[in-house]
Amino acid sequence: MINVDISNVWGDISLPDLLSIEQEIGAAHRMLTEGTGAGAQFRDWLKLPCGETTEELERIRNAAQTIRANSDVCVVVGIGGSYLGPRAAVELLQGPNRNIGRGKGDPQIFFAGNSLSTRHWNELMRLLEGKDFSVIVISKSGTTLEPAIAFRGLRWLLERRYGTDEAARRIYAVTDPETGALRQMAAQENWETFAIPAGVGGRFSVLSPVGLLPMAVAGIDILEVLNGAMDAKEEYDLRSFENPVWLYAGVRNALYRKGKAIEVFASFEPGFRAFGGWWQQLFGESEGKEGKGIFPVTAELTADLHSLGQLIQEGQRNLFETMVRFDGPQKEYLIGSDWKNLDGLNYLEGKSLDYVDRMAFEGTAAAHEEGGVPVITVDCGELTDRKVGELFFFLQLSCGISAYTLGVNPFDQPGVEAYKGNMFNLLGKPGCED
Ligand code: PA5
Repeated sequence: MINVDISNVWGDISLPDLLSIEQEIGAAHRMLTEGTGAGAQFRDWLKLPCGETTEELERIRNAAQTIRANSDVCVVVGIGGSYLGPRAAVELLQGPNRNIGRGKGDPQIFFAGNSLSTRHWNELMRLLEGKDFSVIVISKSGTTLEPAIAFRGLRWLLERRYGTDEAARRIYAVTDPETGALRQMAAQENWETFAIPAGVGGRFSVLSPVGLLPMAVAGIDILEVLNGAMDAKEEYDLRSFENPVWLYAGVRNALYRKGKAIEVFASFEPGFRAFGGWWQQLFGESEGKEGKGIFPVTAELTADLHSLGQLIQEGQRNLFETMVRFDGPQKEYLIGSDWKNLDGLNYLEGKSLDYVDRMAFEGTAAAHEEGGVPVITVDCGELTDRKVGELFFFLQLSCGISAYTLGVNPFDQPGVEAYKGNMFNLLGKPGCED
């Protein structure tokens, strides 16, 4: 079970503060599970964890196997909820530099369609030169501009390189089960498709084929990921503050009511950066509406202690921090002795790098708490495929409960449309002239 430690928050909230919120958390949890809250039709992510192989999982695994065998590179096209989840899992479990040295049999994975940057596009074209590749295109609506433009270019590249029939065999579409432009194109062009269930919104879709297909291509055991989510679904159904989900959702709401409007979500693992991006969208888009919401910021420690550390320690006291921890690695690195000791590090002789990292964590948490920044610690234990599934579900459940406690609909995103309207108007998209 994931452990949530709140021993570093008591400078800003009291036990009565937390207890006074308990009933609201309970009511929010009921709204979520019973479907009585706003946006209830988008709660089908609660049904995604599963403990056994299904026909769909087999199909995902087979598709992944084909891509692994015939591609040096797999390009995953998508944006927002249609890309952050798989990237989070792949980078957390395999590291931000996992692509180096990989190829056919265990392909590189590049993410595309998540910007409109021409430099990014040109770099991708360069990276694909002389490489066999396949494309997974992920879009629930099938019409989102960034992935649609990238996919059109990649589709043409595939067709020029392999001819129409082989190109079609190298395209996998993950989209709405029935409607949308991508679904129609896939049917017409005979691409293999996987469905994003209608009742699952983008930022809650990581345990659907959106996350599972790219994870399987990366060689991650997707049944283990789903088993981990299943563990979470069972264990975090507890209706009290003994449930770490309640503690996380409860404490962040209690802190928000005390003026802590920014949450810094930090980890001491560089591979966690993309996971932070997934968390940021999950909480930001779910809670930030109707003039409410905790602003989600991510930080990579210790690197960002050398950039954000000053502000966290002594800036405006409107933030709190959530630090995510994992057990140390199986393979240790021990700091050796240097007879000259010119760098003065011999006091660390024989200590492991992980020990130093743990001391940095403890020192940082204490310093920030003393500086007026409450620190929630989320201790995940061993970093495994299964644990990542558990963490995804833990955070999704926390988010649903927290947003309902805040009094907003966790499952809509009306504000996202504003920039699109302006952009489409400027681009002259038919029907968007006004
Ligand atoms: O969470 C969301 O709903 C969004 O981030 C979407 O996933 C994102 O806008 C991409 O949408 P689509 O999958 O329709 O291309």
